Amino acid sequence: MEFDTWLDDVPKHFARDGDIVMSHVLTVLSSVFPDGEDYFVRSVEAVRDRIEDPRLREDVEGFIGQESMHGREHRALNERLGELGYPTRAIGAYVRGLTTFRERLQSERGNLAVTAGLEHYTATLAETLLTDPQARAEVGHDGVRHLLLWHALEEAEHKAVAFDVYQHVGGTERMRIATMWVIHMSFVLETSIWTLISLAMDPAARRHPLRVLRSLRRLRRSPFTSPRLLRQLLQYNRRGFHPNDRDTTQLVAEWRSRLFGSEGDLRELLAG
Ligand SMILES: [Fe+2]
Ligand SMILES: [Fe+2]
Repeated sequence: MEFDTWLDDVPKHFARDGDIVMSHVLTVLSSVFPDGEDYFVRSVEAVRDRIEDPRLREDVEGFIGQESMHGREHRALNERLGELGYPTRAIGAYVRGLTTFRERLQSERGNLAVTAGLEHYTATLAETLLTDPQARAEVGHDGVRHLLLWHALEEAEHKAVAFDVYQHVGGTERMRIATMWVIHMSFVLETSIWTLISLAMDPAARRHPLRVLRSLRRLRRSPFTSPRLLRQLLQYNRRGFHPNDRDTTQLVAEWRSRLFGSEGDLRELLAG
C-alpha cells in the first residue's frame, strides 16, 4: 500500500471547508496511531505462543500484519503534516514514552486490556466513518480520506482480535471494564490537550480566534462527537460485552468491494 503520492498535496487545513479544529483533531489522531499500534502489536505478540486455538492464531497473524501496515502509512501522512507545522513528532514521542512506561509497570494482561479497549475506540470511529457520509465528508482531502477509509475497513475487520486474545489468556471482566474507564478519561484528556497545543502552535489559529470558535461549535455537531458515538463507546463497559455483538460483516464486505473491487477507488494501489 502506498499512499505517499496521494498525500503530496495535503494542505495545512485539509478538513472540509478548511475547518481548522477538525484538521487539528484528525492530525492528533493520526499522530497517535503509529506508536500506539506498535504497542498493540507488542501486546499481542507477547502472548502469541500461548494461543492454542488455530483460528485465533491466524487472526493474530492478520492483526499484526494489518497494524504494522497502518503504522507505516500513517507515518507518511504524519511526516507531511509535520512539515506543515503540526507537532506530529512530539505526539509520537509522547505516545512512545507512555507505552514504554506502561509496559514496564503493567502485566501482559494489563497491556492486552489497554489494547482491547483502544481497539474498541478504533472500531467505533471506523464504523462511524464507514456508515456516515457526513463523517467521510468532514475529512476533506481525498488522499487523507482514502487512507482513513482503508484503515477503518481493516479496523472493523479485526475489531475482536485483541479482545479475544485478552480473554484467551484469562483476562477478567473486572480488569477489562476498569481499564476502559481509565481509557475513556485519558483519551478525552490527551486528545483535547494535544489539540489545544497543536492549535496554539498554528499561526492561523492565533490570528483568527473567531474562526477557531466557529470551528469548535461545528465540532460539537460532528458525527465524531455525537451522542450515538459516545453511547457506542460506553457499550464496552457492560459486563458480557463482545465486539462482535455489533455485526459489521456486511459493512466490511461492502467496503472491501467499494475500495478494492473491480471499480474500487483503491484497486490500483493494491495492484501497484
Ligand atoms: Fe490500525
Ligand atoms: Fe486495530
